[in-house]
Amino acid sequence: MASPGGGKRKGKGAGLRRFYGPLLGWLDDRIGFSILGPLMKKKEVPIHKHSFWYYIGGMALFLFILQICTGILLLFYYRPSAEGAYESIQFLMAEVKFGWLIRSIHSWGANLMIFMAFVHLFSVMLLKAYRAPREITWMTGVGLLFVSMALGFTGYLLPWNELAFFATRVGTEIPGVFPVVGPFIRELGRGGADISGATLTRFYALHVSVLPALAFMLVALHVLLVQRHGMSVPPDIEAQGGPKRTIKFFPQFLLRDLVGWLAALALLAAAAAFLPAHLGVKADPFAPAPAGIKPEWYFMFMFQTLKYLPAHIAGIEGELLGVSAFGVLGMVLLFVPFLDRPKPGAKPGKLWTYLTYGALAYILLLTYLGYTASATA
Ligand code: HEM
Repeated sequence: MASPGGGKRKGKGAGLRRFYGPLLGWLDDRIGFSILGPLMKKKEVPIHKHSFWYYIGGMALFLFILQICTGILLLFYYRPSAEGAYESIQFLMAEVKFGWLIRSIHSWGANLMIFMAFVHLFSVMLLKAYRAPREITWMTGVGLLFVSMALGFTGYLLPWNELAFFATRVGTEIPGVFPVVGPFIRELGRGGADISGATLTRFYALHVSVLPALAFMLVALHVLLVQRHGMSVPPDIEAQGGPKRTIKFFPQFLLRDLVGWLAALALLAAAAAFLPAHLGVKADPFAPAPAGIKPEWYFMFMFQTLKYLPAHIAGIEGELLGVSAFGVLGMVLLFVPFLDRPKPGAKPGKLWTYLTYGALAYILLLTYLGYTASATA
């Protein structure tokens, strides 16, 4: 390796130096990133009838990177105060070159990333990809879904428009249903008794620093674990004696992954160009709440469930029971790999597959009702 006298070096970077020039070789002598090469070369991806689902996680990853990039660009113009937030977005949309495009991509990208995270969750759940040794891959994934939803919730308020203001008022009301600690948590989130500039400051801090840092750490661990364990083989393919064919991760799978990334980009560009994010009217805390306040679509099934619950169930407040049930279900989701454990040697059971289809049907139905039934209510 590096000789004190400085003569010709023959480190691991020698191969790299030959192909990509002296700079990369020099860097590799010091950083040692060429150890990743053999790892990538070794990794094989199984090809079978469910292989399509392997691309969804990659698309979510691409969208995550895009959110970070577009979010940073928005920060150059955004002002996090009740007096300046709405106007700064108005300026960005009307005056800044391509400002409307960056904002629209960030707004649609958030929705698409959460959608992809849901599709990815249901696909890995149905393919039982959470089985040993991928329990922590699954748990970091659930963490990512929750953090993505929290990013969506906090980001929604930032333009400080009427719709976001009142939806956040409804959303932050929810922890208040818990006795004793509820009002404290609600006020902690809002930074006071009601939504105000203090709430905006808090949500801004969470949205641009705390949550992205957390998401970044979770993504890094998640992707590292995927590289470490490779792609799982679903039980039905395992039962047929394993996949008939595999392809190399590098470059074959990665190139196919890039097709998925391009598809996501094309979808986003079309959505941003044809349906740019709009701003609505500025929030007025003293105005009455407009009719038909709705949360973002990914909270709709929970919102709608709470609406259907009676005021009291067995003497306990219905909403309190509903919110607690969702909390318990969130924990169940986190621990699925430990709950679905067939006896050693036994075939994987069908119970969790049925539960997954049941959950999917429930989410779709309640979301549909949220957009149709409540329109007339
Ligand atoms: C923004 C969120 C997420 C990103 C960026 C992400 C990224 C990825 C990537 C790139 C892969 C490898 C390709 C693939 O199998 O699709 C992967 C695999 C995996 N992900 Fe995620 N993921 C996210 C959310 C989730 C969620 C919500 C779950 C489930 C709770 C999850 C569980 C898993 C599991 C178990 C694997 C291994 C799949 C296998 O080995 O077959 N991920 N993820």
